[in-house]
Amino acid sequence: MFNAQIYDNRRKILADGIDDGLIFLMGNSHVPMNYPSNWLHFRQDSNFLYYCGLDHPDLNLIIDSNSGESTLFADDLNVQDIVWEGERTSVSKMAKTAGIHNILPSKELSSYLLNSNAIHYLPMYRQDQEMTLQTLLNGSQSDASKSLIMKVISQRSIKTEDELNEIESALEITAEMHKLAMRYTRVGISEQKIVGKIEGYALENGRRLAYPVIFTIHGEILHNNNYKNIMKSGQLALNDSGAESPLHYASDITRTFPVSGKFNDLQKDIYNLVWSMQDAAFNHCKPGNSYKEAHLEASKIAVEGLKGMGIMKGNPDDAVGAGAHALFFPHGLGHMLGLDVHDMEGLGEDLVGYNEINNRSDQFGLAYLRLAKELVEGFVLTVEPGIYFIPHLIDQWNAENKYNEFINYDSLGRFIDFGGIRIEDNIVITEQGYRILGPHIPRTVEEIEEIMS
Ligand code: GLY
Ligand code: MN
Repeated sequence: MFNAQIYDNRRKILADGIDDGLIFLMGNSHVPMNYPSNWLHFRQDSNFLYYCGLDHPDLNLIIDSNSGESTLFADDLNVQDIVWEGERTSVSKMAKTAGIHNILPSKELSSYLLNSNAIHYLPMYRQDQEMTLQTLLNGSQSDASKSLIMKVISQRSIKTEDELNEIESALEITAEMHKLAMRYTRVGISEQKIVGKIEGYALENGRRLAYPVIFTIHGEILHNNNYKNIMKSGQLALNDSGAESPLHYASDITRTFPVSGKFNDLQKDIYNLVWSMQDAAFNHCKPGNSYKEAHLEASKIAVEGLKGMGIMKGNPDDAVGAGAHALFFPHGLGHMLGLDVHDMEGLGEDLVGYNEINNRSDQFGLAYLRLAKELVEGFVLTVEPGIYFIPHLIDQWNAENKYNEFINYDSLGRFIDFGGIRIEDNIVITEQGYRILGPHIPRTVEEIEEIMS
């Protein structure tokens, strides 16, 4: 945990930003896997972690916005619990480490809440949370509090040095996971074996992953969690994986490399194009610049490169304006990163990534951009351009004669089995521009071929 003063300050700032009533932060409980006493791995709620750092199930926190006082609702384990789970830190010790002075038993939470004329809470993202809230409020719950959501987003968006250290600690593990994957990937090895190496490295270092590993020869399937293939010569392997820090801050890195250890010419050309997209995006990352501009700039580089290879045609600005590039780059350039890998997405993607001037587009591709607004010093985000050849999408657009003026469909035959390439790094916005977080992970063609040799 951070020291108690940090959590106390965060709660004070939050309480100052809310006019009246109680702020209710619900901690997570265990979730059964297949019967009540067989639990999934416990993950505390990220907002709960941000405001008190307590990483145990069945805790709840109330911050009185008028007095600024916090109360922890929790129970010590009874002997029967201890027989099965062992001892855990006492509630009074937990409260002390989080700088909380008031403790009440969990059974008093409902009446405490119902005695208040205003209760602010955040959106729920799990059904068990909805049910708990319904029970606590006797079915009288209304919508989550917009003022609370906005205040939390404004606080969590700006990362402090302590938080950056956590993210960099996650990246230390992630860098090793990625280097291991490059070293162990060989012709004839299964994707599953590499996933085992990646996840095993995190686990043996006492870490968990921030999201399920994406490791695949089908990089064109954006969130592919199927690891059944045996890797063959000529294929590319895409590894999108990231560990959490001890305090559950995320990291999110993608590298793509040849199964054989050597890129062929076509792979090298597309790889270097994605590298240029990422470089162009980095150059756009500074306070005041919108991330949507960075996305569009990377998209334009993609069109120019694909045009040079005979895959696209026409004016690059017009192609990007029309959305034709999304056949090859169908997702957003990146997203905020913090206690969640898509940071604060549970509070509302548009509220985190957009504002009054930057509305979400409904154009295919651009619509998936999770962060569009102006960058601010202290934001941590991913920069993750990619180029993909997605047979189903190509077939559909070709059949519809979609963007015939920008796409040479006849040129795409040789890309049917290409897959996809994505390069992803994590950056913090600084006063002057940006800084790539974490240790260097092989990123150029030469660096990748070197580590795989
Ligand atoms: N790492 C997966 C994603 O950013 O969606
Ligand atoms: Mn990502």
